Amino acid sequence: MSSEPSPCCHVVAVPYPGRGHVNPMMNLCRLLSSTANVLVTFVVTEEWLGFILGSEPPPPPGIRLASIPNVIPSEVGRAGNFSGFLEAVYTKMEEPFERLLDRLEPPASAIVADTYLPWAAEVGNRRGVPVHSLFTMSATYFSALYSLERQLAAADGDVAAYDVGKADEPLAKYIQGHAPLKLADFRSVLAAGKPLELALQALSTVRKADSVLFTSFYELEARVFDALRSNIPVPVYPVGPSIPYMLLDEKRTVVKPSGSAAPDYVEWLDSQPDGSVLYVSLGSFLSVSGAQMDEIAMGLSLSGTRFLWVARSESSRLRETVGDAGLIVPWCDQLRVLGHASVGGFLTHCGWNSTLEGVFSGLPMLTFPIFWDQPIDSRLIVDEWKIGLNLRGGVGTEEGGGVVVVGREEIAGVVKRVMDLEGDESKAMRRRAAELRSAARRAVEAGGSSSTNLECFIRDFMGNVA
Ligand code: UDX
Repeated sequence: MSSEPSPCCHVVAVPYPGRGHVNPMMNLCRLLSSTANVLVTFVVTEEWLGFILGSEPPPPPGIRLASIPNVIPSEVGRAGNFSGFLEAVYTKMEEPFERLLDRLEPPASAIVADTYLPWAAEVGNRRGVPVHSLFTMSATYFSALYSLERQLAAADGDVAAYDVGKADEPLAKYIQGHAPLKLADFRSVLAAGKPLELALQALSTVRKADSVLFTSFYELEARVFDALRSNIPVPVYPVGPSIPYMLLDEKRTVVKPSGSAAPDYVEWLDSQPDGSVLYVSLGSFLSVSGAQMDEIAMGLSLSGTRFLWVARSESSRLRETVGDAGLIVPWCDQLRVLGHASVGGFLTHCGWNSTLEGVFSGLPMLTFPIFWDQPIDSRLIVDEWKIGLNLRGGVGTEEGGGVVVVGREEIAGVVKRVMDLEGDESKAMRRRAAELRSAARRAVEAGGSSSTNLECFIRDFMGNVA
């Protein structure tokens, strides 16, 4: 017989199947299971169950893993058909999820679902279970998309009214209240066709949820959160930055896993001078052309800066191009790398998790946005927070085979500006990045904005459960 106290409620968490969504949902679940007497069941496809079981560290005992069959296309190669993948996520997961929900013991007292799983609200409504929506991208992007959805619904409008050719126009000219965004930042969203239609559907379903949680923190996007709180008819809880706090020590540096040898790239980082290494990653699934990857490789080499580059499937090929100018790996423990003393900058595609992790680590960033919400995050990094420089101005939708958007000379020049520890420009960015880092850490401390929001969320949702 178990001597564990029985949990007061049972949260069923269902992330969208992608690394940039599974990680922050797991981070939230770790918080819920550690700060409240909550049992969590974390529901993923069988393929994702394998990924989670194969990754370190395993979820704590308060989080049970459960799976539904692989009803969606495999993670391997899914970026090639983003629309098809999204459609499958929207149409194929609902039924097996509902069947699983019916079998769970104890019965679910609440569902926390990624906002991009709009069917979760329907399941919750049918089963009488409250549904809370977790948005894993920036509140700024949420707000722009939400306003667009409202605008199109009210006017029976069409995205064709947005003249995406006028890239430098403020987005505020079209939808109110989105300084400092430009139309160009929203271009890949507006031109997305089916994925945009599905994203708007997800945003319209948010109003049926019991609350919306954000992986951001209030101070990072304060103006946007203030506006959202008066625009959305459900409670809004920023509870980030989404970082697995339990893996951090008291100084909030990443704890080295005990018992296992440090990976080679950590040993390499250990041997480099403080602040000297640029960490380069373009995220977990999008890619740029092979020719652009080569150009990045040449640009990094030309800059003379040490670098650690996560290049996934291209790592072996690129290793030959750069020789010993830097270290290239297929995957790494990103948070551990960003927190390492020798890392002094982050070249990022501006996925929201990477953006938050960069902010949390107090690093200046070089932005290389590729698609979707990433140009918006880049705008925040460069123009709003002023902690980075943009590398890839001409953002469009996905690129074909041989396209090079940014050349090696430009890359080398921007890398040098950011990594010049003695330069005034770099120093100013580092100072502001350090301020944001402190704000991020204050937000999650006892009494900080995110801790308080999480407490409010737990109190509210327990109240609804009782
Ligand atoms: C996707 C979208 O591309 C992005 O626009 C959106 O904001 C979130 O969903 P993804 O491309 O995976 O995200 O990037 P990101 O949001 O940065 O998430 C990647 C996650 O994988 C991060 O938590 C990062 O720490 C982790 N990661 C990445 C590793 O742990 N190791 C790696 O080598 C690379």
